[in-house]
Amino acid sequence: MRLDDRLETLLADMTVDEKVGQLGIFADMLRPFAADVNPEMNELNAGELRERIRAGQVGAVFNGVGAAQGREAQRIAVEESRLGIPLLMGADVIHGMRTVFPIPLGEAASFEPVLAERTARAAAVEATACGLHWTFAPTLDIARDQRWGRVAEAAGEDVVLGTAFAAARVRGFHGDDLTADDCLLATPKHFVGYGAVIGGLEYNSVEISEGTLRDVHLPPFKAALDAGALTVMSAFNDINGVPASAHDELLTGVLRDEWGFRGFVVSDYTADFELVAHGFAGDEREATKLSFTAGVDMSMQSGLYATHLPDLVASGEVSMDTLDEGVRRVLAVKQAIGLFDNPYRSLDPDAEAALDPQALHGELARDAARRSIVLLKNDGGVLPLRRSGQKIALIGPFARDRDNIEGCWTLFGDKSQYVNLEDGLRAALDDGGALTVVDGSGFEDAIDGGIEAAVGAARDADVVLLAIGEPQNYSGEAQSRTRIVVPPAQQALAEAVVATGTPVVVLLRHGRALALHGAVRDAQAILATWFLGTQTGNAVADVVFGDYNPSARLPVSFPRDSGQQPLYYNRQRTGRPELPDMQEFKSRWREMPHGPLYPFGHGLSYTRFEYGPVALSADALDWDGALTVSATLRNAGDRFGEEVVQLYVHDRVASRVRPIRELKDFRKVALAPGEETTVSFELHRDQLAFTTRSGQFAAEPGLFDVWIAPDCESGEAVQFTLRGA
Ligand code: NOJ
Repeated sequence: MRLDDRLETLLADMTVDEKVGQLGIFADMLRPFAADVNPEMNELNAGELRERIRAGQVGAVFNGVGAAQGREAQRIAVEESRLGIPLLMGADVIHGMRTVFPIPLGEAASFEPVLAERTARAAAVEATACGLHWTFAPTLDIARDQRWGRVAEAAGEDVVLGTAFAAARVRGFHGDDLTADDCLLATPKHFVGYGAVIGGLEYNSVEISEGTLRDVHLPPFKAALDAGALTVMSAFNDINGVPASAHDELLTGVLRDEWGFRGFVVSDYTADFELVAHGFAGDEREATKLSFTAGVDMSMQSGLYATHLPDLVASGEVSMDTLDEGVRRVLAVKQAIGLFDNPYRSLDPDAEAALDPQALHGELARDAARRSIVLLKNDGGVLPLRRSGQKIALIGPFARDRDNIEGCWTLFGDKSQYVNLEDGLRAALDDGGALTVVDGSGFEDAIDGGIEAAVGAARDADVVLLAIGEPQNYSGEAQSRTRIVVPPAQQALAEAVVATGTPVVVLLRHGRALALHGAVRDAQAILATWFLGTQTGNAVADVVFGDYNPSARLPVSFPRDSGQQPLYYNRQRTGRPELPDMQEFKSRWREMPHGPLYPFGHGLSYTRFEYGPVALSADALDWDGALTVSATLRNAGDRFGEEVVQLYVHDRVASRVRPIRELKDFRKVALAPGEETTVSFELHRDQLAFTTRSGQFAAEPGLFDVWIAPDCESGEAVQFTLRGA
């Protein structure tokens, strides 16, 4: 690529050390925040970093915050370094900055990409006001194994849902104008396959077919780039034996040659250095060479590029052209966001002082949170509760807790604004005194007299809200679990409380799909509330008391047992499928049915929706044509409600075994009581395509089943034929 004359002239003037400087990102020790996130990063002290910036040896800094100190760092880069190249300032702003929105998995449950676009925009407004240009988000890893803790960070198990959220989040972070003060550069991550680590074990290897990689894991990245993303983060894992951070076929072959990506790739934290631990590089010098030449342009935190690239260039092992190309990509991104013309963009202390996150985004945070809550179960219509005339016991370690509200990936949330369950519920009650609050147990350990107190409170109450689940450090990076269950101390609490016979509504807190057992599974009602962020208590109250009719649906399958993992709805057909009345020699578990407890797409409402039969505009889809698939949807209940209407397809016979069902489209539809509408989707050949054995992305003519359904297991299929060209 060639930059404009100004930048080409600049490049021509750069020494090798200055070039290499642009390819390094280091922890922002000038304004450190949340230093415990990556403790190793503190090796570099503030004074040393300042010196390096002055010497032109730093291209970017990360995970610091504050406009004034950021401005000072930028001043050193622009005024005191020889060439005055501005710094790019990044951070992990994953699901909110000061205002914390639901974890991305929870937000995906809304099935409203437009909501994610709005919360990403809000995060961008706040982050840029606090002195940032760049976020390491969105996380786009498709995760089919709930043992993996980073399920929390992305959009779940499905590629169509994940792709829609990927594009929406990039649009939201960027806004309309890349050079605007409030544009926050997005970084789709982790490229690629990270969500498929074997056994859900963090940082583990990935063994994956070309077809699954291309059809399941790559599309969200393509969508993010099509939406304008200019940087990508390479992953920690290896893929079929080649570390993602040295994978030239993916980093250069797919990303650049196939997709035409012109931005830069940043490594994950010390991922280049880790090539040595992988046993893929013999030493750090070789790791540098392999990573850089594969297409990782910027090295995060290891300092390897700074140490070894000059020598690799001098020896000719890395050509000057290759070095220049990496530098061009970084300079081009800096230019794209206006840093050369306006190096102090997003570094305005007055804007930071004037920022009022609560006034700007409090309502959005509440709406996003309630739109993310899934009503899994509601036996006997126990929910919604009345605001008065009944005694409510709020029991569980999350009842008044404030330390497990934000979820796994929030560095900068304003904790003073967090609304816990107790406060949110009490504020919603006509008589706040009707709420009794008891912890009952700790997150992991019983507390003395806890169960007795909880049982007493449950007996005295008309209904129990049981606030249990995973503490937030159970999900996120490096938090894999073998048993994805409610911790035993809390399970014991649930058993005792449910045994009182008082109706129990479980308010589940979780960063992944959980296997629910015993009293938790069998409670009258269950709300999946993920980690909802700043407005947790208010949002839960909105749903509990019916001010908001739940409309979210599961973006991940809830298993019956941990041992079913990986469990995902769009699994491939087997030659010996499980049959209800035939046990032996079938694909089945000895102890339980194959399927989930709650399927992908599942979620109830306080109203009832009725689907009409699926109608097709024709019984065949022409090769270049479109097929309209529609069904009537009626709100047959007595409340306003929103339904997530889901379009699924199944390819009857193909040259590669195909999934039993695949989501192809979805839409959230709002209906007044008694109202009916027709929901129509258009299907095209591309949506039926997959990576064939010859490596083509192609659809194959033949018979297909299609459903319009409220989840991945229900509905009646109709058939159509895809006609050949
Ligand atoms: C490691 C994580 O894998 C990545 O997601 C994050 O952006 C970096 N650390 C920087 O904090």
